[in-house]
Amino acid sequence: MSIVQTGLKHLLYGDIVERLPRFCLERWQSMHETTSRILLSESGLEPLSIRQIEKLGVNIGDLKQLPLGYGWTRGSPGLREAITSLYRSDLDIDNVVVANGSAEANYAGIMSMASRGEKIVVDIPTYMQVPGLLKWMGAQTIKLRRKPPNWEFPLDKAVHIIEEEKPNLVFITDPNNPTGKYIQKRELEELINTAEKNNVKLFFDEVYWGSEQKDHRPSAIELGDTGTVTVVHGLSKVYGLPGLRIGWIITDKNHVERAWSIKDYTTIAPSIMSDYVASRVLSNEDAVQALRERARRIVRENVETMKNAVKQLGEAVIPYWPEAGAFQLLGVGNKDTLELSIELYQRYGILVNPGECFELPGYIRIGLGADPGRFKEEIGELVKALSSLL
Ligand SMILES: Cc1ncc(COP(=O)(O)O)c(C=O)c1O
Repeated sequence: MSIVQTGLKHLLYGDIVERLPRFCLERWQSMHETTSRILLSESGLEPLSIRQIEKLGVNIGDLKQLPLGYGWTRGSPGLREAITSLYRSDLDIDNVVVANGSAEANYAGIMSMASRGEKIVVDIPTYMQVPGLLKWMGAQTIKLRRKPPNWEFPLDKAVHIIEEEKPNLVFITDPNNPTGKYIQKRELEELINTAEKNNVKLFFDEVYWGSEQKDHRPSAIELGDTGTVTVVHGLSKVYGLPGLRIGWIITDKNHVERAWSIKDYTTIAPSIMSDYVASRVLSNEDAVQALRERARRIVRENVETMKNAVKQLGEAVIPYWPEAGAFQLLGVGNKDTLELSIELYQRYGILVNPGECFELPGYIRIGLGADPGRFKEEIGELVKALSSLL
């Protein structure tokens, strides 16, 4: 049953059970992504096959011999070792819990770090998973808004809130989905220093880390102590491997035990096949760099395509160009963008994300990670459709 057929917006917005809101973005995607003709709603890079990974020099030869047991519930030592090698050298494998995607890493992280009644600051707009979970557990959420036209992280406001309100936790999505902005290194250092001084914990969803177009910024975990900083990252976006469902959380050793314990209630362990493939990919430094470079190159090319294409829409749209990630916001004025997205899907088979799913009515989010040749054609169709709808 599709929202388009039923017109039932509560399939996207209503509560699933008391206080747990439907996760609008994921519901929207789940209901439509396999039936759309033109998929422009993805936030990651064109996915790779095992064969393509092998072409990067990654040896996955023994996969067929692998006994399909449960494996290691917090990730194999080899995979956790490979994960730590992406970061500064004093982290070790006991700082890492591997999860089924960054989504489960966020879940295990937030469920083990936040409690009912606590003050939690949330960077908005964001992927709405954590705000939904905070509402469910009855935490007191303080929203810290990135605003147009720059969508920059409001550092001064964050510092003020940390000093004055002494929240239990600050949750930040950076590089940010859906704005494509990221906090520069100097500002990140200031934020971390302020949090350290005030004994406030910072939790960064860094799933888009490594996709920065200009200056690669260090992970927050490289700039702060694990007692203050927790980060989540994974293979779904920049590396084009979402089907592996491999994400992870890096945090201090006490918290690792609690985050790991949450997984006993969810998926128990990452798939052993995914653990195996992921450890082969991540222990090959050249392949990691090549995948990050591929991500930046594809997005750069697709941004150029978009720049030419949106000219045809004139003042009907305001494009916001990303500095990281593989997506961009398009402002379309004072419009019901859920209705617009439904029409794009229903009449033209084109799937984009409605801003309403990010608390941003008046915007649509367009994925920039597709194969550039195909993207050119698909954007041509999107522009034609928008010309007649706007
Ligand atoms: C900010 C953010 N965090 C987490 C996720 C979940 O990613 P994964 O596929 O690694 O579970 C997404 C997916 O869109 C995301 O945008």
